[in-house]
Amino acid sequence: MKKYKLPKFPDSYIGDNADEYNSLKWMQRNQKRTTITTIDYLFDEKLGKINYILEEDLPLCILDLGCGTGFSSEILIECGFRVIGVDILHDMLSKADIKRNMLDTNNLMLILADINYLPIRTQSIHFVISISAYNFITNEKQSERNKRMIVNNTAKYLYKILKNDGRMVIEFYPENEEDLKLFNSSFIKNGFEGFMVKNNPNQKSGQIFLLLKKKR
Ligand SMILES: C[S@@+](CC[C@H](N)C(=O)[O-])C[C@H]1O[C@@H](n2cnc3c(N)ncnc32)[C@H](O)[C@@H]1O
Repeated sequence: MKKYKLPKFPDSYIGDNADEYNSLKWMQRNQKRTTITTIDYLFDEKLGKINYILEEDLPLCILDLGCGTGFSSEILIECGFRVIGVDILHDMLSKADIKRNMLDTNNLMLILADINYLPIRTQSIHFVISISAYNFITNEKQSERNKRMIVNNTAKYLYKILKNDGRMVIEFYPENEEDLKLFNSSFIKNGFEGFMVKNNPNQKSGQIFLLLKKKR
């Protein structure tokens, strides 16, 4: 297997790199497995009683933030959700569009947009997920003040578009403990409550799941 370099946004997802990402079998397996875990977390009873039953209340509308080439959107469609996939890079989204045509479904809408400026109607979304993308909404070139402003504004907007009994699971890779605190507190300060799941309790970076719902 070819050694996989740590991704750098946006270069790692443009042109041939987008083709490579989409064709890596282990990547596909990994992202799909993470999506299934994320769906389980959306319905986790530790977040409290949920008002929706996946098989009965279909189609529930789910937003896939940073959907990339559509690995997670594909699983969400198979589970019966109505999916809105959002990504900022055409090179990635065009591959999701090919999957959409192959699935021959009306339940996947793809939008070329920035997670920080989502063109979505207020209180129209039952669930939000994001797989391995949310850490890219800021970058190391921005000042701490700017980063804080971006994560807070995005959390506020997500609060606005989510239904009152909606839920959100963000799976992402913060670079360090400060980044993790920054992202987590942006949600807590802006009306969400919930908890985080780490593979290892002492972990300060690496894969994190934030399980969130609106505070009552
Ligand atoms: C590692 S890929 C993950 C793609 C997909 N979620 C998956 O699991 O295969 C990260 C994706 O996030 C997208 N992305 C990064 N920053 C974004 C932003 N601000 N708004 C929308 N999408 C963004 C990238 O274009 C890329 O497709």
